[in-house]
Amino acid sequence: MEKKNIDWSNLGFGYIETDKRYVANYKDGKWDDGELISDANIVLNECAGVLQYAQTVFEGLKAYTTEDGRIVTFRPDLNAQRMEDSAKRLEMPVFPKERFVDAVTKTVKANAAWVPPYGSGATLYIRPYMFGSDSVIGVSPANEYQFRVFTTPVGPYFKGGAKPITIKISDFDRAAPHGTGHIKAGLNYAMSLHAIVRAHEEGYAENMYLDAATRTKVEETGGANFIFITKDKKVVTPKSSSILPSITRRSLLYVAKEYLGLETEEREVYLDEVKDFAECGLCGTAAVVSPVGKIVDHGKEICFASGMEEMGPVTKQLYDTLTGIQMGRIEAPEGWIHVIE
Ligand SMILES: Cc1ncc(COP(=O)(O)O)c(C=O)c1O
Repeated sequence: MEKKNIDWSNLGFGYIETDKRYVANYKDGKWDDGELISDANIVLNECAGVLQYAQTVFEGLKAYTTEDGRIVTFRPDLNAQRMEDSAKRLEMPVFPKERFVDAVTKTVKANAAWVPPYGSGATLYIRPYMFGSDSVIGVSPANEYQFRVFTTPVGPYFKGGAKPITIKISDFDRAAPHGTGHIKAGLNYAMSLHAIVRAHEEGYAENMYLDAATRTKVEETGGANFIFITKDKKVVTPKSSSILPSITRRSLLYVAKEYLGLETEEREVYLDEVKDFAECGLCGTAAVVSPVGKIVDHGKEICFASGMEEMGPVTKQLYDTLTGIQMGRIEAPEGWIHVIE
């Protein structure tokens, strides 16, 4: 298979239409067989549930070309599970987990020419999503749904790749206690747009959201969880029922413990103690592991010892090990790598 003629090394994080996408429809209480199609556009009724009441959930994962030329995805079963959890919270039908993994596999295979080559620094981003597709005018769940998967080749999420970023403490809240912060629903991102546009205008790469109830604890950013490294090299990540359970973060904690022999801790992290950490990073499918050099709290700067030039040493070890596993340079734990072809 011949790869597309793309300048892979200079890709940003944007949408590029690829050849095929997967679609399955839910009607009369059941999913149809699903198929790959070519048309990237969707025609919907003006009153569709997704358009009126934002009944939509999604996932994000990547396909990688490994050192030995295989195309693989990373722990897609966990995305399938999270999408099930998201769907249940928004009163949507569940797309069966094994069908989710099969749909991802089929879509990536059909777009193999778009999977960036090994060593290019780019990957194929995979976006499974589901939405209420029939008309809903009273506030209630839709009766019909569409599950789709599309792919798009992407480069780094933050401009500058591995260079430390500066973020700000947001004055807006991302998720309420007992709300929907723990699921991947479009509504959580719609309400974050105002805050991210403001942050970008002020020159920050991202927002650090605090817990909405007390505004004393670290939650996450608009699209990634936090990891902190203590001065004695312990890996600490915030525990909260209103943050998205990042697959990258869960994998990094395992990598820290089992591959790097580091102590790990998942606990509430107070904003007051952030200044005492040696390193800070953002983790997620899109962010991978992105170092944070500085956090600005209403004019007060929290600067990490790792500085603004490069990743801190432990963050780098975590990054190298995780990406080594994803790219097939380091042996993966059982079940983490799903081979497409
Ligand atoms: C709000 C939010 N937190 C965290 C993450 C990271 O999760 P994962 O590592 O599963 O991609 C994402 C991105 O998926 C996200 O949107």
